[in-house]
Amino acid sequence: MNQNKSKVIKYKPPGSFEETRFEKLHNIIYNNSDEGSLSIALSIAQLIKEKQSQKKNCVLGLATGSSPLSVYRELIRMHKEEGLSFKNVITFNLDEYFPLSKNDINSYDYFMNENLFNHIDIPKENINIPNGEISFEKVRKSCNDYEKKIIKAGGIDLQILGIGRTGHIGFNEPGSHFNSQTRLVKLDDVTRFDAAKSFQGIENVPREAITMGIQTILGAKRIILMAWGSNKALILKKAIEGKTTSLIPTSYLQHHKNTTLVLDNESSSELTRVKTPWLVGAYEWNIENSARAVIWLCEKTGKSILKLTDSDYKENGMVDLLNASGSSYDLNIKMFNKLQHTITGWPGGKPDSDDSKRPERKSPHPKKVIIFSPHPDDDVISMGGTFDRLVSHGNEVNVAYQTSGNIAVSNEDASKFLEVTHDMFPDKIKKEYEEIINKFKSKGNKNPDPNIIRKLKSSIRKRESLGATRYIGIPDNQVHFLNLPFYETGTVSKNPISRNDIEITKNLIKKIKPHQIYAAGDLADPHGTHRVCLEIIFKAIKSLKKEPFMKDCWVWLYRGAWHEWETYEIDMAVPMSPDQVLRKRNAIFFHQSQKDGVMYQGNDQREFWVRAEQRNAETAKKYRNLGLSDYEAIEAFKRYHF
Ligand code: F6R
Repeated sequence: MNQNKSKVIKYKPPGSFEETRFEKLHNIIYNNSDEGSLSIALSIAQLIKEKQSQKKNCVLGLATGSSPLSVYRELIRMHKEEGLSFKNVITFNLDEYFPLSKNDINSYDYFMNENLFNHIDIPKENINIPNGEISFEKVRKSCNDYEKKIIKAGGIDLQILGIGRTGHIGFNEPGSHFNSQTRLVKLDDVTRFDAAKSFQGIENVPREAITMGIQTILGAKRIILMAWGSNKALILKKAIEGKTTSLIPTSYLQHHKNTTLVLDNESSSELTRVKTPWLVGAYEWNIENSARAVIWLCEKTGKSILKLTDSDYKENGMVDLLNASGSSYDLNIKMFNKLQHTITGWPGGKPDSDDSKRPERKSPHPKKVIIFSPHPDDDVISMGGTFDRLVSHGNEVNVAYQTSGNIAVSNEDASKFLEVTHDMFPDKIKKEYEEIINKFKSKGNKNPDPNIIRKLKSSIRKRESLGATRYIGIPDNQVHFLNLPFYETGTVSKNPISRNDIEITKNLIKKIKPHQIYAAGDLADPHGTHRVCLEIIFKAIKSLKKEPFMKDCWVWLYRGAWHEWETYEIDMAVPMSPDQVLRKRNAIFFHQSQKDGVMYQGNDQREFWVRAEQRNAETAKKYRNLGLSDYEAIEAFKRYHF
């Protein structure tokens, strides 16, 4: 990739040709989506400037979705701060929903204006986006014209792509033909599901879209596909390491000579060279990666750790590890003990005990704790059992709800609470009641919630949270509602992180001076609220690092409702008895607005308490299968060293 000298970004080049022998698509792995996005923005800027110096137009193929957002942000910054001009740029967007008005906040037309075009100096007549507003009869001609226009512009110089969970590029869903051109297509259910959040329900997501075809995309001179977060990891492995197949349209890129996939640590995590590097070439072993490999070997052979034999190691690319350890017997015991020492029933540390083999320190006791919860319910969903134990062991536990979570309350639920209040005081709040009811009517389901409705919805989530924290047994003054400003847009897309978000977070940490901080370490969706909340905490911690109290502060990361740490990543495993599992369930039940077909369920139909229970039971099963103790459920944490 082209890189500006002033901003060289580090990425992990493959160590040898051998390392990529499973791969059929060129890819570069960056530490995170910010670094990857920066490098893509630099490539785009370089191309634009190159074309400017040749007095030529630069034809860009553009994508929408969450992936390119930070690329567009960086391009806007380059325009504003470095004078990058887009006067010679012609753009063709990949796709648009059909039918959908350009003015709809979910249209890709709206998205592009909001996130790029309105902030740069591109001539309006140079912007091309498939038209989702025309009548069905006109679609075919309009698609043919789109193709002709691309050819007339000289073809696409650089095409930017994201990848859907179905493996789609543009809206070319599985089954798309290699020779396809711009056309009307049916959207896959998975894709509609992923869009349901922004459309406030899958029933509002259009069933069709107009998209450039595979042939149109492959006609570009250069292609850069970007993918961030673990949600994309499995499909990327198939596209990169598997055969070309119409079932995974991204795999068609294997036929393009000048394609690069830009990935981050999470999205590349399923690639053979990342997941099982000992299978692709020489490998340097240490205690951490040995544990990872041994757990993998147990899963592969179906054996527990202490039953692994010399031949199991030899047959699975781990002969060096075996030789370094002497024998499978010694290696097995070392690994067994390492994992055994992650288990503790005392997440706040066990006072007056030998803590040399425990994940937490015995002192001080009791500890001051802050549990940061991105939404008002992640605390109990993700670590309700540990929360309960910390409190029952006498620690001073504070909970900080980072966002109000107001957009996840349905209009029906919110109206219900309003009506109850009105039933109680019909005369006193008549005017206010009517005003809010009218606001509900005029906004419908689509537009952002006005402030007063957001306030009502925030209050519902606040009261539900207090129900849960009182049930677990902490006083209300240890519950903090931070209402971070980045979240308060009333829509799914959020504001960028501001200094205010970080200050609010820092102030709480400074006030409590905690010995333990728990935070949601979710990396599945790089632009999702959990990830942003984590970034805010990391930034706050970084700037407080030198404060004396921070020397005694340990940070533990839990995972949200969506997925769990890999077993090898777990530093602290907190087991739960069947009774504790029930208490956790009861605590989750207080969040009634988030039960039964909630607004932002994601692609998992299970209710949050079911997900949490199944996930915790699954972690316990993994420990059991490794030959460790047999528990009903386990909550898992990874320590973050700052
Ligand atoms: C968008 C598009 C899609 C997205 C893909 C990934 O114009 O054509 O193929 O690139 O669905 O979307 P995100 O980036 O939201 O995960």
